[in-house]
Amino acid sequence: MARKIIIDTDPGIDDAMAILFAFQAPQLEVLGLTTTFGNVSVDLATQNAIKLTEIAQVTVPVAKGVAVPSHIAPRPHPDFVHGKDGFGNINLPAPAGSAIDKSAAQFIVDTVRAFPGEVTIIALGPLGNLAKALELDPEVADLVDEVVLMGGTAIEYGNVSPVAEANIMNDPHAADKVFTAPWQVTMIGLDVTHQVLLDNDILSRIKQANPEEGGFLFDCAQYYIDFYSSRFDMNGCYFHDASTIAYVMDPSIFGVELGAVRVACEGIGIGQTIFAPQGMSFPEPHWNDVPMTQVCMEVDSEKLLTLFETTLS
Ligand code: RIB
Ligand code: CA
Repeated sequence: MARKIIIDTDPGIDDAMAILFAFQAPQLEVLGLTTTFGNVSVDLATQNAIKLTEIAQVTVPVAKGVAVPSHIAPRPHPDFVHGKDGFGNINLPAPAGSAIDKSAAQFIVDTVRAFPGEVTIIALGPLGNLAKALELDPEVADLVDEVVLMGGTAIEYGNVSPVAEANIMNDPHAADKVFTAPWQVTMIGLDVTHQVLLDNDILSRIKQANPEEGGFLFDCAQYYIDFYSSRFDMNGCYFHDASTIAYVMDPSIFGVELGAVRVACEGIGIGQTIFAPQGMSFPEPHWNDVPMTQVCMEVDSEKLLTLFETTLS
């Protein structure tokens, strides 16, 4: 039976890779997309999510979510990474469809309640919608199968500060709520996404095999790859959001460590995901009685990229 998923997202070029990957995966049933601010405004994220359903020719509801962080001032959208349109400035026409008349958080609650124990939430952006769903209905934590999120970092450097990853930095209070709620969270952070390099050879082969979706991904990825090449002298881009989809399709691609994760919500360490490995105790109490998160620390990069290519081809 296909695994039921909701994707919470801020598309975003690598979000687009993840979403089209998920739509093509026979092991997954995408029940809906929920949107958040992050790479772009929530309005544009919603338009982009609808556009992705139209590119993939699937009928999947899109619910608009939070527009700003819960407790801090919003940070600027990173148009130097994803373009002003979130898709690398490729000037796509607006989508024909529209969002459903329900908030992202309410959609999450209603969908999880409709399929108790069966729904996995895959989060690809800041975590405000998940935190709001917990506020609306705390029991959803017991009814969700798993939360798999792209965000954070345990020992690798951050990408928006020496210690913070962008999705967590964009709403640290929401992230701390998600990591401390009584549901199974799997964190796919920079510890693993920085070990995987997606290059134009792979994207060209996908484009050749699947001109519609592969062509779109190739076109929007050029802006993203240019960013990585000019900023880090890399020949390709890190494989962030789509790693979550590979994880739910085949968790054996990753090696995980268990521990309690808390998020620093102020000071120069704001946005840091602070990982206390299972079995270690500390005089400071903040990690006591916090549920164990599965933190991905190892990845079989070749297997991951092969799964991405074959699924989309
Ligand atoms: O740090 C990488 C994350 O930030 C990805 O989710 C990317 O889409 C951006 O939102
Ligand atoms: Ca994202």
